[in-house]
Amino acid sequence: MSYRPRIVITDDEIRMTESLKILLGDKGYDIDTFQNGHDALNFLGTQECDLVLMDVMMPVMNGFEALSHIRNHHPEVTVIIMTGQASIDSAIRALRGGAYDYLCKPFEYDELIKKVENALGHRRLSREKNLIHHQLQSTEARYQYLVHNSPDIIFTLSSQNKFVFITDKIKNCTSVSSQDLLGRNFTSIVYHQDVDKVTKYFREIRSGKVTKDLLELRFKCESCGHNGSPCTGSHPEMELKAVTMTNGSAEGAGDQPSEIYGIIRDITQRRRDEEEKRALESQLRQAQKMEAIGTLAGGIAHDFNNLLMAIQGNISMLLMHCDATHPHHERLKKIERHIENGSKLTSQLLGYARKGKYEVKPIDLNRTIEDTAQTFGRMKKEIRFYLALAPDLAPIEADSSQIEQVLMNLFLNAADAMPGGGNITVKSTTVDHSIIKSGFYKPKPGRYVLMSIRDTGIGMDEKTKERIFEPFFTTKEMGRGTGLGLASVYGIIKGHHGFIEVESAVSGGTTFYIYIPASEAAIPEMAAGASENILRGEGTILLVDDEEGILEIGKSMLENLGYQVLTSRTAEEALSCYETHKDGIKLVLLDMIMPGMNGGKIYDRIKAINPQVKVLLISGYSIEGEAREILARGCNGFIQKPFKIKELAKKIGDIIGTQIHSSSL
Ligand SMILES: Nc1ncnc2c1ncn2[C@@H]1O[C@H](COP(=O)(O)OP(=O)(O)OP(=O)(O)O)[C@@H](O)[C@H]1O
Ligand SMILES: [Mg+2]
Repeated sequence: MSYRPRIVITDDEIRMTESLKILLGDKGYDIDTFQNGHDALNFLGTQECDLVLMDVMMPVMNGFEALSHIRNHHPEVTVIIMTGQASIDSAIRALRGGAYDYLCKPFEYDELIKKVENALGHRRLSREKNLIHHQLQSTEARYQYLVHNSPDIIFTLSSQNKFVFITDKIKNCTSVSSQDLLGRNFTSIVYHQDVDKVTKYFREIRSGKVTKDLLELRFKCESCGHNGSPCTGSHPEMELKAVTMTNGSAEGAGDQPSEIYGIIRDITQRRRDEEEKRALESQLRQAQKMEAIGTLAGGIAHDFNNLLMAIQGNISMLLMHCDATHPHHERLKKIERHIENGSKLTSQLLGYARKGKYEVKPIDLNRTIEDTAQTFGRMKKEIRFYLALAPDLAPIEADSSQIEQVLMNLFLNAADAMPGGGNITVKSTTVDHSIIKSGFYKPKPGRYVLMSIRDTGIGMDEKTKERIFEPFFTTKEMGRGTGLGLASVYGIIKGHHGFIEVESAVSGGTTFYIYIPASEAAIPEMAAGASENILRGEGTILLVDDEEGILEIGKSMLENLGYQVLTSRTAEEALSCYETHKDGIKLVLLDMIMPGMNGGKIYDRIKAINPQVKVLLISGYSIEGEAREILARGCNGFIQKPFKIKELAKKIGDIIGTQIHSSSL
């Protein structure tokens, strides 16, 4: 439906209002008539109206008064004054009072229609102008909002690269406010090392030959340019994209140096995140590499231990039958020492592979430190030990022989780094997890025992420090170092859910910081010292191992100790053998790693047959914590391959306690 203008006719002469109503009504307008200004004004207060035709001389309120009121309260309404006095004065008064036009009575129909149409046209135009003005205002407000709330910094530059406009976001990245930047050169906020490339970039943009779509640059830091001293802060990193502008709009370059419109994005955090991600990825790759080599090392150690066990068993047997006067006694003892060295190597490998953590119990780390330092000090007289151990140190749950291994490795390395002698300072204290710096691994919240081992040796450069925990990495000459010491330290500490940090400087000594979770458990009383004699016994023992060599030598060792021996090579054989002979079997010697069914399962099945069964576990290495779990389920003891006959006899004696007589070896 098309718009119908509304006209209010106000005249005290009814004939006049009625005839005008007919004339204008025919033209398609909505007409309302009133006999005085007051009524007309009341109507305007309730209804929209486009034009008022107003007589001057009226009762209650005359035309000029009504006009003044309309101008004040309804400025959008157009008014034509109808005057009966054809004087120029009243026409001028009407126009001055804000009337759009006037009609002098009597007027012609054509004149009326022309003036009314003119007035309505004027009214329509001003209505459209108002509408456009409002639209412009809201568009402007929307763009202002978008520009000022953009997460990026938006700016324009003059042809001399001076800021004409810049959003307040700049305050987040520089110490200068947007207001202060107006009129200043863009380069006034750029780090001096990047000024040339920024200037070149703007030049290229103006010439239309941009080589880079985006330019990375750094802003000045807070300390930049202060007193000419070198700056110390970090420079916010930015990404800039700019285009040229002509007549206020972004366009291609003209002949004149044009203004520039640009966007700056703060990429400082993104850069930091990328760097952190890169570092984490490389740490992860390193951890995966270590894990893979660990698996390999664990496998080798397992097979190697079995070989050593077979050799050790045979030597033990031979030694039982030849005393110190025998011509082969010395050579056999030498072979035994070589086996011991071989076994040290496998225990380093096992440490690295995070295996071999068999006997975990609450221990006092201070005591292990004191004992190991004393033993080591006796071997290396040129090293002076300084111990600063916290008297109230929390216990740790650890395999004490592995912790000794860690200390030995660190002391040996320290001694190697101090060829002319020097000091080793060992400190212990209980700390909170928050002080652990190890980036990649997140320490579990809680208390940790911190042990630091500091030497006054030659120290390390950064390159060496980065690689020290890698297995087989050594800076020592061929034959002097295997590069397994710190790899095993790393594996053992990780296996104890701990962390290691290193500080070192060339010629400035080295400090290792080791954190191990503190335990709430109490430290058990120390067992009585081991007997030097071989304990013999009697009764039947079931020996379960999948290795032919171990079965053979184990059987001979046990028989030499006075026991009758049943052997089983598989889990099924072991279970059926135990079922058949359970009343006669005093002890089961069970290998932890068996094909098909592991030692833990076999243990549970045997225990189901006889809950009182006595079992001694044997292993070359264990899957993380498995030996501990079996021991926790009631298994009576554990012995690690390769073992000597004396150690085996002692373990068996501890469990079945049937010592008949002892003989020294
Ligand atoms: N306290 C230290 N001071 C200086 N350098 C050290 C120290 N500890 C370790 N290193 C460096 O780390 C390397 C690796 O040490 P790691 O104990 O793993 O192997 P290794 O001592 O060379 O050989 P292995 O311990 O197997 O006999 C060493 O060769 C040495 O360069
Ligand atoms: Mg070493």
